Amino acid sequence: MRIAMIGTGYVGLVSGACFSEFGHHVTCVDKDASKIARLEKGEIPIYEPGLDKLVADNVQDHRLDFTTTLADSVKTADAVFIAVGTPTRRGDGHADLSYVYAAAKEIADAIDGYTVVVTKSTVPVGTGREVAKIIAETRQDLKEGTDFDVVSNPEFLREGSAINDFMRPDRVVIGTNSEKARQTMQRLYRPLYLIETPIVFTQLETSEMIKYAANTFLAAKITFINEIADLCEKVGADVHDVAKGIGLDGRIGRKFLHPGPGYGGSCFPKDTLALVKTAQDYHAPLRIIETVVDINDSRKKAMAQRIIEACGGSVAEKTIALLGLTFKPNTDDMRDSPSLDIVPALLSAGAKVRAFDPEGMQEAQKLLPAIDYGKNAYETMEEADALVIVTEWNEFRALDLERVKDLLKTPLMIDLRNIYNPEEMVSLGFDYSCIGRPLRALMPQD
Ligand code: UDX
Repeated sequence: MRIAMIGTGYVGLVSGACFSEFGHHVTCVDKDASKIARLEKGEIPIYEPGLDKLVADNVQDHRLDFTTTLADSVKTADAVFIAVGTPTRRGDGHADLSYVYAAAKEIADAIDGYTVVVTKSTVPVGTGREVAKIIAETRQDLKEGTDFDVVSNPEFLREGSAINDFMRPDRVVIGTNSEKARQTMQRLYRPLYLIETPIVFTQLETSEMIKYAANTFLAAKITFINEIADLCEKVGADVHDVAKGIGLDGRIGRKFLHPGPGYGGSCFPKDTLALVKTAQDYHAPLRIIETVVDINDSRKKAMAQRIIEACGGSVAEKTIALLGLTFKPNTDDMRDSPSLDIVPALLSAGAKVRAFDPEGMQEAQKLLPAIDYGKNAYETMEEADALVIVTEWNEFRALDLERVKDLLKTPLMIDLRNIYNPEEMVSLGFDYSCIGRPLRALMPQD
């Protein structure tokens, strides 16, 4: 089949490349000519493990190509995916749908023959209906159900494991009221159908709601364990064992129970806010998610205070080394990263900050210009007064701890991702602090 993918960001480029890997012909469209030019040269504008090879292989097999002109690819497409950004609208938290609606207009102008228009971007409930209205208004000659249908097909891709999440999803969700569109989507996802991937067919609005409900639930789950971690610190419990003890309950599940500095990224912060706004607009407020948003925002800000307290109450004139700046490992994405709250607070408390991140520094330098950047973890911590683990990149999980101790002015480590073992750190002579775990011996002394 032929697909036009509108938008070549984290979602559009991964989805387009994966669909071409399924054997479909995909044309990825973007208004940004420089981005398209880089893609045509085989350069990938984002860091996503495995994406460069996936794109190169499919370009070579002539199943994947790139263009800035939307019309040609839409004319010949069986399905047109809208995978443009839906950022938080400045000031009020709603999702900005201007890019989605602009794409809908351009697609309408180019439709030639029955076409399924698919919203892949995360869009508020009701957006699919609005897209259908825009198409019908733009082209009075087009009839919904005959010349086009609109389908919701949200993505559940995690940055850093997006290709795997596309190729081996827990489920595919498809929202449509049209049997014809359902047939088209079933053919598009045939390779997953063949490996018996659960495909949830439902209504348009329900599919849009599933996406938001999933992300806000995950954000709430993370916030839950973060608050439990804070209570564990007070009562001397170990949040890792609490997470294990509750996670083994099939109704709770073991994933997304890792305490940390608060969630970031391009999705949870914007999707929680957008759903809260939708709910308020419909006078059915989501008070739990409103609280999750508040807790997470204040948690990221509180992390700097945690660092200051670990440094004896002041970081004035001290050098603080940070390992990790991105919102999670295996990405270069800095959006809503906890480091964007931590660094400014440390600087305003008089600290000098040095940081290293394996993939995020190019992006970070635009956002955090007032700090120094190291070439690697060890160089960054040299002569620092404290070392803070902000993002749990694998290369930070097995540092030579004796060497770390020698390099630091004082053996002080604040581990915001609990990647080290408190007992071991204390026995090595570190002044070690982490999230939700007691520092005294974890097992009763026999
Ligand atoms: C998320 C959803 O997982 C994905 O399904 C959706 O399509 C897009 O948003 P992503 O934002 O890429 O994916 O990353 P994810 O791995 O979900 O982590 C989000 C944030 O939560 C990160 O800041 C991460 O550090 C944090 N997190 C995650 C925790 O603090 N604890 C956890 O246990 C898991």
